Amino acid sequence: MHKLYLKNLYVNLNRKEILKDIYFDVKKGELVSLLGPSGCGKSTLLKTIAGLIEPNNGDILVDGEQIKGIAPEKREIVIVFQDLRLFPNMNVLENVEFGLKMKGIDKNTRKIKALDMLEKVGLAGFEKRKVFELSGGQKQRVALARAAAAEPEVLLLDEPFSSLDEGLRQKMRELVMTLQRQLKITTVMVTHDQSEALLMSDRIAVMLDGKIIQYDTPRNVYEHPSCPEVANYFGEMNYIKGIVEKETFKSPIGDFKALVIDGDYTLMFKPNHIKVINKPGEYRITALNYLGDKYNVRVEGHNINLFIIMPSDSNIKIGDLVSIEIDFSKGIFYKL
Ligand SMILES: Nc1ncnc2c1ncn2[C@@H]1O[C@H](COP(=O)(O)OP(=O)(O)OP(=O)(O)O)[C@@H](O)[C@H]1O
Ligand SMILES: [Mg+2]
Repeated sequence: MHKLYLKNLYVNLNRKEILKDIYFDVKKGELVSLLGPSGCGKSTLLKTIAGLIEPNNGDILVDGEQIKGIAPEKREIVIVFQDLRLFPNMNVLENVEFGLKMKGIDKNTRKIKALDMLEKVGLAGFEKRKVFELSGGQKQRVALARAAAAEPEVLLLDEPFSSLDEGLRQKMRELVMTLQRQLKITTVMVTHDQSEALLMSDRIAVMLDGKIIQYDTPRNVYEHPSCPEVANYFGEMNYIKGIVEKETFKSPIGDFKALVIDGDYTLMFKPNHIKVINKPGEYRITALNYLGDKYNVRVEGHNINLFIIMPSDSNIKIGDLVSIEIDFSKGIFYKL
């Protein structure tokens, strides 16, 4: 049974359709990411689940029960906003106790639980501090502790690490993953960082323009993107147009075996599934960007530009005429 299930969900804001026909399920204890470009509706989806926005159509089910129409504070759902929204007039302990207090848990129990949670997020000893006496990363951890302490059925995190520097981000990711697994909290996290989504999620829902266009495991989303829009989200890809006839893909860069039905296709392959071969050929290297352990390489030939990632110890330079080798087994055909 699904912990959370959204069915045929539509949301209009200012008469504009923001979410369209969303179907989305999260299993108990799962951590799922919503990944997508700015403005595609990620925060709107979280707010709708939390009850801060009423959907125009569709169902929101928790453990199979309709929660549409139930006030946000009555839902067993906690949302952590990007700007955290800690209570500035309360100290750290009071902040973390807040959800438990709302639930009517007695003073002693909630103090024990809150202190335990502060310890889990590495803030033991901080309970008397005021919010303004905390660093950005510490505030983030208080917000997380406050949310988790309330023991929600579903935890919603809206870009929880976006304001942190890379080192702290990494620590926070690990903390969320540890906490989420320890407490088995069903979690939906918004991010627009693709490596974060790949690293942390059991499943990733890729959103575009108010719709979920692919929902699958990180490996499937990355290796088998359902459409070029999803593929592009994970970096620059190569696309070659051609025709498939009798299991042969005919294209400007050559003819290759293709086990798809006849028709017009775009073949997509990733920059790491193509290699520059250092022997004279029909492709000219037009750009070479050094990125530490790799080169971003651009080659041109047969009126096609290709983007290739090569190890930076490759013996190549701009202007070289070279050959290329494509691992077609990794290519994906999209029907035109
Ligand atoms: N209260 C509102 N009234 C009208 N339109 C809104 C409202 N809130 C958001 N929108 C619009 O809805 C769309 C989706 O917004 P949303 O905040 O869900 O995007 P997002 O995917 O979270 O983007 P970001 O990554 O920038 O946070 C945007 O076009 C936005 O302008
Ligand atoms: Mg947002």
